[in-house]
Amino acid sequence: MKILLFGKGGQVGWELQRSLLPLGDLIALDFDSTELCGSFADLDGIARTIRTVRPAVIVNAAAHTAVDRAEAEPALAHTLNADAPGVLAREADALGAWVVHYSTDYVFDGSGCAPWRETDRPAPLSVYGRTKLAGEGAVARASRHLILRTSWVYAARGGNFARTMLRLAAERDSLRVIDDQVGAPTSAELLADCTAHALRAALDRPALAGLYHVAAAGETSWHGYARHVIARAAARGQPLKAGPDNIVAIATAEYPTPARRPLNSRLDTCRFRQAFSLTLPDWRVQVDRMVDEICA
Ligand SMILES: NC(=O)c1ccc[n+]([C@@H]2O[C@H](COP(=O)([O-])OP(=O)(O)OC[C@H]3O[C@@H](n4cnc5c(N)ncnc54)[C@H](OP(=O)(O)O)[C@@H]3O)[C@@H](O)[C@H]2O)c1
Repeated sequence: MKILLFGKGGQVGWELQRSLLPLGDLIALDFDSTELCGSFADLDGIARTIRTVRPAVIVNAAAHTAVDRAEAEPALAHTLNADAPGVLAREADALGAWVVHYSTDYVFDGSGCAPWRETDRPAPLSVYGRTKLAGEGAVARASRHLILRTSWVYAARGGNFARTMLRLAAERDSLRVIDDQVGAPTSAELLADCTAHALRAALDRPALAGLYHVAAAGETSWHGYARHVIARAAARGQPLKAGPDNIVAIATAEYPTPARRPLNSRLDTCRFRQAFSLTLPDWRVQVDRMVDEICA
């Protein structure tokens, strides 16, 4: 079985290169791949790639994920987040292939404090959220699709929130971190593993096609996340100037950004866990592993 992966160099794409391997022959592309086109700016190019490879599964980890920059370049964000996934869906349908796609809690307006269900009405606050919602709609037109909405993705590789907090805590006596946005930090590793398990099940049971919320269990704010990371690193002997009690909680309003972000990013993952008989661990489990690896 051929699996065609777009966005292999991103946080989730990198982990998918590992988790999808046992499922079939993996052809993994990035925007600058040379033999086959993996650039989402070239819609004809990606259609040609799919017709050449003729995969049984297309997995899309590519996206315009720079949430603030998207406010200034809405057309490009729409091409990458909505038009290109639409091409994948159309070509997948023509082949009878599956298409796996990721979306975001940013399709919601963040009101209230109940975890969002798949049936709740999206109302995005930003260009990123609107273009991702349009991408969901385009992918949902393919008969065999899995759309996984997730939140606050991080990866051990490269820069991430935990590393930034640890660097700043080593340099400064105190840090100011937003406390009124609540969600669940979700590792790219967990998402990639869940994708492989869900895809395996869906290949056997096409009725599982649909939209699912997938995120680590539990919840925190960015402030709680930072405190947790710094406390863990301090307990592992990391030399830090700012300890967990020197992390000052601030409101979103005190940290203005070009894009508005939802305050409530909680996702109800019940549908995913039940459909695929999977368990989603508490967010601290993989954050702790990552901090331990950084400290080691
Ligand atoms: N990050 C989050 O917190 C978060 C939260 C919820 C949902 N999601 C969703 O999860 C999915 C994976 O996100 P991620 O965190 O892994 O994002 P990421 O690390 O930013 O990866 C996105 C990938 O897309 C690539 N890309 C950018 N422009 C492209 C183009 N023109 N053509 C082809 N590829 C292009 C990027 O390449 P370069 O790196 O070289 O630009 C990168 O490899 C996305 O659908 C995202 O919307 C992410």
